[in-house]
Order: sequence, then C-alpha cells, then structure tokens
Amino acid sequence: MNYIGSKAKLLPFLDATISDFFGQSLEGKIFCDLFAGSGVVGNYFAQKGARILSNDVEYYSYLLNRAQLQTGFLEDTQSIIASLNALPLCKALMYTHYSYSSGRAYFSDENAQKIDALRQGIEAYKKSEMLYMYLLASLLCSADAVANTASVYSAFLKKLKPQACEPLCLKPLAYTPTSAPHQVFCEDANVLISRLKGDILYLDPPYNRRQYGANYHILNTIAQYDIFIPKGKTGVRKYVSSPYCKAKHAFNALEEIVQKANFPFVVLSYNDEGLLSHEAIEKMMKKYGDFSFVKIPHHRFKAYNNKAHKHHIYEYLYLLKKA
Ligand SMILES: C[S@@+](CC[C@H](N)C(=O)[O-])C[C@H]1O[C@@H](n2cnc3c(N)ncnc32)[C@H](O)[C@@H]1O
Repeated sequence: MNYIGSKAKLLPFLDATISDFFGQSLEGKIFCDLFAGSGVVGNYFAQKGARILSNDVEYYSYLLNRAQLQTGFLEDTQSIIASLNALPLCKALMYTHYSYSSGRAYFSDENAQKIDALRQGIEAYKKSEMLYMYLLASLLCSADAVANTASVYSAFLKKLKPQACEPLCLKPLAYTPTSAPHQVFCEDANVLISRLKGDILYLDPPYNRRQYGANYHILNTIAQYDIFIPKGKTGVRKYVSSPYCKAKHAFNALEEIVQKANFPFVVLSYNDEGLLSHEAIEKMMKKYGDFSFVKIPHHRFKAYNNKAHKHHIYEYLYLLKKA
C-alpha cells in the first residue's frame, strides 16, 4: 500500500539509528509504534525480536497491524480465500456509492461488486477473530491495489486507470508470525500514552494538514461496512480530526506525548516540510533529557499521476534519552 508518510523505504535508516541509539539488542524489549499507519515499522522490529505495542487511531490501520502482528498459524486459508473469491458479485454498499456507475468512480463496477461480495462473505468468519481480522486486512490491501485513485481516497480519477480495470482478486496478506505477545490498539495516542510503558517509544505522527481519516475513508468504509450517509462528491464519512494535522495544535499534542512518555528512549520521525519547525522540536525535546538528531535526504510522497515533485526533503530522526 502506498501510504502517506510510510517509513517502508527508511527502515534501514531507522534500524541503524535506533540500534545505535539504544545500544543493546532489541530482543525481548518493548517497542511502541504509537502512530503505526501501515504497520511496516512495528512489523520490522517484531521480526528483530522486539515485543510491539502498536497503535493508530484509524480502524483500517488497526486491522493491518492486527493482521501483521497477531496472526498466528492459520489453517486452510487458501481454501477459504478460494471460496470467498468464488462468491457471486453483489450490488450493495460499495457498488451503490463508490463504483464507476454511482458517479464516484473509486472502483470499476465489477470490482465494487466484488468488494461487496467479499466483504459480506467475510462475515461468515466473524467467530474466529484472528481469521476475521486477517481476511479483512487482506481485503483492504487487495481492494487498494485496484482503486481508481491517484493514490489516496480524497478524490477518484474521472477515467478508470489501467490498474483499476484489473479484476480484483482477494489475495492473502503476507505476514511472518512471531511468538512475542504483541498488543494492538486503536486509540487516540494522547489518551493511550498514559497507560503504556516500555523501552523504546517510536513516534511518527502526521506532518502536515492531510487528515488520514479523509484520505483513507474508503478503507474505513470497507472495514466497518456500516450504514452512514456518504457526504458530497467524494462520499467521505465522518472522520477523526487529528491535532497533528493542525498548525495550532500539533506542538502541544506532541509535547504532551513526550512529557507523559513512560519510556527511557523516545524517537521521533519528522521532516523539514512539516507543520513544526526543526527549532521548535529541538527546543521542546531538550527540556526532557539528552537530545540529538540525525537527518537524511528522502523522496517526497508521490501520487500516481504526479511526477512533478522530484526534489528531496530531509527526513529527521529526533532522539531523546529521557532524564
Ligand atoms: C506518518 S503516518 C505513520 C506512518 C507509519 N509509520 C508507516 O510507516 O506506515 C501517521 C499516522 O498517525 C495516525 N494518527 C494521526 N493522529 C493520531 C492520533 N491522535 N492518535 C493515534 N494515531 C494518529 C494516522 O492515522 C497515521 O496512520
């Protein structure tokens, strides 16, 4: 999934910097990924032996993280997925509101019906929570792969792009089970932080005004599959408005987390185009202990039809050893 702010390409940088900063093996240590998004960071450190506390306020992200961190050995997934893929197409929520014919061309007509069929079919597995969450996360990724967008769901393309014309097929989400008792939350980070304790706190909040709930509303709709009135041209649903996406509130929200953190090592990802300035972050973090930072050049987030932005930005890792 092409996720805004994904750290997938920065994992080697994160790994090298965090390992050096922490100065000991991560095996068995508690690593908290408080703004987990796609889950690549938590999943990476889980594979290194850390015990992960993962959190994101968005429900689709919760599913992705549950599927990656808490799916154990699943029996018979291949035949379950084959039987779901064989279900007859069905005209329901996604077809009615988010298909080409509906006027909101997020999916081809056939793929919207396929999502409806799969989403309803997955309900049959609700009794097994682990399997249910895994199937839902697999559906989110499979649907995302054929979405008719320039990358996020704040708008759809007028004409169906070639990828969106490919028939949707439910594909099992790739995951590598680990034995550590990881925990996954779906809460406001500023509320949850008081209840968490561990070794390393990794913070990757939104940097800019783009609200994730608005940009990924379709994923929440597929996941929740509830009754609501889609709003306006894009059919957006009600979404959580994050303080990290507002210049007026981002600083206080971040400081609250840093101050409340019950973790000796705090690592913050941010970039030089974010709402908060480097100077403001540095000044704030210095109040709470030993502070340093590293930066590397990084490509901007690029959408499907936007090749205009070629320049680099700087991605920062702020490192705080709490006093
Ligand atoms: C920059 S992204 C994280 C990207 C992630 N590290 C990755 O590699 O995929 C920021 C995330 O913060 C989440 N978020 C925003 N406000 C939040 C809040 N108040 N509490 C918890 N999560 C929040 C968003 O839903 C989004 O997934």
